[in-house]
Amino acid sequence: MKEKRILVIGGAGYIGSHFTYYATGAGCHVTVVDNLSKGHLSALRGNAFFRADLNDPAVILEHLSDNHYDGIFHFAASCLVGESMSDPAHYYQNNILAPFNMLEAMRATRHDKIVFSSSCAVYGAPRTLPLKEGHPKDPISPYGRTKLAIEWMLEDYGRAYGIRSASLRYFNAAGCEPSEGLGEDHRPETHLIPNAVRYALKLDDRFAIFGNDYPTPDGTCVRDYIHVMDLAEAHLIALEKLAEASLIRLNLGTGSGFSNLEIVQAVSRVAKMELRPEIGPRRPGDPPELVADASESFDFLGWRPVRSQLDAIISEVWKWISDNPAGYPE
Ligand SMILES: NC(=O)c1ccc[n+]([C@@H]2O[C@H](COP(=O)([O-])OP(=O)(O)OC[C@H]3O[C@@H](n4cnc5c(N)ncnc54)[C@H](O)[C@@H]3O)[C@@H](O)[C@H]2O)c1
Repeated sequence: MKEKRILVIGGAGYIGSHFTYYATGAGCHVTVVDNLSKGHLSALRGNAFFRADLNDPAVILEHLSDNHYDGIFHFAASCLVGESMSDPAHYYQNNILAPFNMLEAMRATRHDKIVFSSSCAVYGAPRTLPLKEGHPKDPISPYGRTKLAIEWMLEDYGRAYGIRSASLRYFNAAGCEPSEGLGEDHRPETHLIPNAVRYALKLDDRFAIFGNDYPTPDGTCVRDYIHVMDLAEAHLIALEKLAEASLIRLNLGTGSGFSNLEIVQAVSRVAKMELRPEIGPRRPGDPPELVADASESFDFLGWRPVRSQLDAIISEVWKWISDNPAGYPE
């Protein structure tokens, strides 16, 4: 098979850097674009890199005019649900106008395949569980709305301009590749597993979970955790599948949910100490339960999550944070 040349936009971030590592190992020739607003130079593994902001249409147009890629992977977004509620303008700017610039540059330069990081946030509060791809889309945060808007834009660009797209709706990405020095380093970190681990390692003084009065078995939110390298594998398969299907929309999850308290118990097991989180108020935009019906992606991609066991995920996060208590150096 010919070596694929791919562009990874947002490749210095958490999921993009793990994908870049995976795709390089799978024989792709990878170029990373990132504005480093949230990403880390130290998460790059010697791939070609250029610093650019998708909000600047001329830069991405020039790059795509000078280079040809077999596929473009778009991970670059702002992704804090709470922040999107208080500052929606930033989300409409960075999650809609910036990718619009990219799509226009793709159209002008005849790049016709894109894999897009969508989210289970497109569904809003579930009416039925587990969530199937056909579930009504009624996002309850500006973040979720921006993801749905891009899915719609991709559908329209496919119909009118022949751009083939895969929108992959991730549930909760988790885990890392500590042996490669790759981890999760969001600033601020809002994800439960790294925050629980940081607290257990005494790197943070406080640790809270948000709400214990949800209509779930133990009152805390339930989420579906999928390993970041399982996500990475599904992305490359999705690119292959774009040869036969022009519009793909799939859930990427495991089909199993864990409550926030179950996560705390699992981190307590790995830490060999009992963690007692504070119980904070509910966070706006947090549905009680988000669990995927991932059978369509299993069937269509011929893929299964193989690394998404909870205790293994937590042990990896523990290792990476222990090795990098201050996060990436740059
Ligand atoms: N982390 C999750 O659990 C999760 C779940 C569902 C969907 N997603 C989606 O997956 C994608 C990646 O998430 P992540 O957790 O790796 O986030 P991240 O913040 O770690 O990575 C995003 C990267 O994009 C870069 N970026 C942002 N705006 C840019 C711009 N305008 N131009 C160039 N680069 C830009 C950032 O610097 C960062 O490196 C996002 O689109 C997110 O919405 C993530």
